[in-house]
Amino acid sequence: MTITPWWRDAVIYQIYPRSWADSDGDGIGDLPGITARLPHLAELGVDAVWLSPFYTSPQNDAGYDVADYRDVDPVFGTLDDFDALVARAHELGLRVVVDIVPNHTSSEHPWFRSALAAAPGSPERARYLFRDGLGESGELPPNNWPSKFGGRAWTRVTEPGGRPGQWYLHMFDTSQPDLDWTNPEVRDEMQGVLRFWLDRDVDGFRIDVAHGMVKADGLPDADVDDDDSVSPTSRLPMWDQPGVHEIYRDWRRIADSYAREGEDADRILCAEAWVLPGEALARYVRPDELHQSFNFEYLMTPWLAADQRETITHSLEQVAAVGAPQTWVLSNHDVVRHASRLGYPQQPGLQKIAGIGPDDPQPDAVVGLRRARAATAVMLALPGSAYLFQGEELGLPEATHLPDDSRQDPTFARTGGASKGRDGCRVPVAWEGGDPSYGFGPGAQSWLPQPAEYGALAADRQRGVVGSTLDVYTTLLRLRRERRLGRGELTWLDGHPDDVLAFTVTSDEGAVTVLANLGATPVELPEDAVILATSSDIEPVRLLGADEAVWLDA
Ligand code: GLC
Ligand code: MG
Repeated sequence: MTITPWWRDAVIYQIYPRSWADSDGDGIGDLPGITARLPHLAELGVDAVWLSPFYTSPQNDAGYDVADYRDVDPVFGTLDDFDALVARAHELGLRVVVDIVPNHTSSEHPWFRSALAAAPGSPERARYLFRDGLGESGELPPNNWPSKFGGRAWTRVTEPGGRPGQWYLHMFDTSQPDLDWTNPEVRDEMQGVLRFWLDRDVDGFRIDVAHGMVKADGLPDADVDDDDSVSPTSRLPMWDQPGVHEIYRDWRRIADSYAREGEDADRILCAEAWVLPGEALARYVRPDELHQSFNFEYLMTPWLAADQRETITHSLEQVAAVGAPQTWVLSNHDVVRHASRLGYPQQPGLQKIAGIGPDDPQPDAVVGLRRARAATAVMLALPGSAYLFQGEELGLPEATHLPDDSRQDPTFARTGGASKGRDGCRVPVAWEGGDPSYGFGPGAQSWLPQPAEYGALAADRQRGVVGSTLDVYTTLLRLRRERRLGRGELTWLDGHPDDVLAFTVTSDEGAVTVLANLGATPVELPEDAVILATSSDIEPVRLLGADEAVWLDA
């Protein structure tokens, strides 16, 4: 019997530690809170959790600004709390993936503090990308690169003597200086960080900004007119440079050296790489590199049958060419939740929509949720692995009415409010409908205000309720596992209307046929169809309505 590694078809649930469960009532989620709520995930039927960063951090970018890679921030708990979390998860049959943030540190990291205190040209500065400015007295930034969070990617420092001095690169916030990955010290340090968490028994890593660590030689100006999240990134000097692959070959050797015994041996590496086209992304999952890489092209594909068919087809081909499975995802902590994203009219072509504010056009909540459930029913049948974002199993919408003064994503301030930022998807989740913070914590506090709609969507209002979003997710996950759909093969079916996605996925353990109606006209189901699951809470009728999906016995 050949062994199929667990990650090839795993469903991995993303926990954003600030916003999942708060044990001490300070309004910020924490590790003991997570540990206490883990049974929810075992019941849901996922295989693993991915924890966004919980490391020591000034929290300027919600923990993606790390000041100590080997400790837990007091706001989230202690290393002992982390060990307890991993032990409990393993006991429940859940694996634990943690975030690693190798592209940049926090400006409060000891390395950066000593870089500021040291002179230009010193070894302390050589861990980061310090450069002299252009112009007569170095008053202009070294190149034209913009920060992903708005404004420019360079900040000028004041030298220890008090004079305006060099500039340092930060692709994100000013408080997130980029490391210089040509420096062997940087490589060694991050490998040490990997080993530190592997020794604490983690099952893998999600790699933050995995396409960013290596920059083109000489840091040349970029052609930055395009939105690089929806157009090819492989030609820009700050993203997807060939040198990153060498880093991942080293990391893969480390992960492999920590393999456990038996079927569940592998410790995994998953890239967050906003890289297009898909052929370039597939290079990250070559056999000697990473195990997974989020398919953000799929996430950005509109809810239109032709676009969906095209993306799914070429996504499967692109990874098959390197022998890897696909890694599907619809929501995470950086994008508008799919229950809201899909509540807008859909246009052909990839779309990345920005955060939504109270004065923006609002998504249609009913249409959005119906489409979101259907989209999930499509995704969870696809061969490969899939990532879920906390709260999507409850159908939580984006919080679109956050007051500006509550917003914490640095994007909001850096763009002068022009971009609302990502707080809307990061609002604490709802556990008990009646409680002050909907059961998020023992008190009424939550670090971002929760919308009133979250009460009715709380987990306790949906548990055991047939047709609830939670019930739909639980049913799909159970069937997916029973029939091993993630290890299956997809075949498109002919003879259905153009607006209907129709495919069968077949594995050694069974098969399902998925029909999803992306059009406005209800479609009759085949007469002999045996319905296994449906995305809609309407009693199964023989008509598949607009934005509904169904799994049939095949
Ligand atoms: C990644 C994270 C995002 C963070 C950024 C900078 O894109 O997902 O949340 O702001 O990296 O670390
Ligand atoms: Mg707390």
